[in-house]
Amino acid sequence: MSVRGKEHLKVLIRRSAIQKRVQEIGKQITKDYRGQRVHLIGVLKGASIFLADLVRTVGLEVSLDLSSYGKGTRTSGEVKLSKDLDTSIEGLNVILVEDILDTGLTLGYLCRVLRQRKPKDLRIAALLDKPDRRLMKDVHADYIGFQIPNEFVVGYGLDYAERYRNLKDVCVLSLPPE
Ligand code: IMP
Ligand code: MG
Repeated sequence: MSVRGKEHLKVLIRRSAIQKRVQEIGKQITKDYRGQRVHLIGVLKGASIFLADLVRTVGLEVSLDLSSYGKGTRTSGEVKLSKDLDTSIEGLNVILVEDILDTGLTLGYLCRVLRQRKPKDLRIAALLDKPDRRLMKDVHADYIGFQIPNEFVVGYGLDYAERYRNLKDVCVLSLPPE
């Protein structure tokens, strides 16, 4: 596929497969929470496109919020919230919406922070899951779009240095040797 410099993109998951899977997850959430309200929290910026598509497939009363964390997650395991939630989540059925579950450090930390705020229920929806990379063995997603191999992917919200978020397919990005 297209290249920028010597970066190379190869389609891993086509847009049609993503749309189909997002519909299925929305249906499952609708079934699991029948008659209740759900509060979806998107983790910026990567989850924004998944969140926008997912929320429109949920046939329930839904509210939304957004959270964002700073860089440097990987090494420390500590996540600095650079944008906290706008409203209380006490007593709510919260679904944390993430682009990808990789080592699990980010979601592990966010879940610990959010649990202290006493939601009624806290689940995770991740579009992608790289199980081979998991360091936090107790972190798992309740709703997973696709399990993928240990490759660096971009598109459908996922970036490399803030680029490629607008690709409609999820693609494997190969970088030129340094
Ligand atoms: P974790 O804390 O290692 O699970 O990291 C999760 C975050 O790392 C995601 O929300 C992404 O922002 C980023 N990330 C992990 N793998 C990839 C990838 O393959 N492409 C783009 N971003 C990634
Ligand atoms: Mg992210």
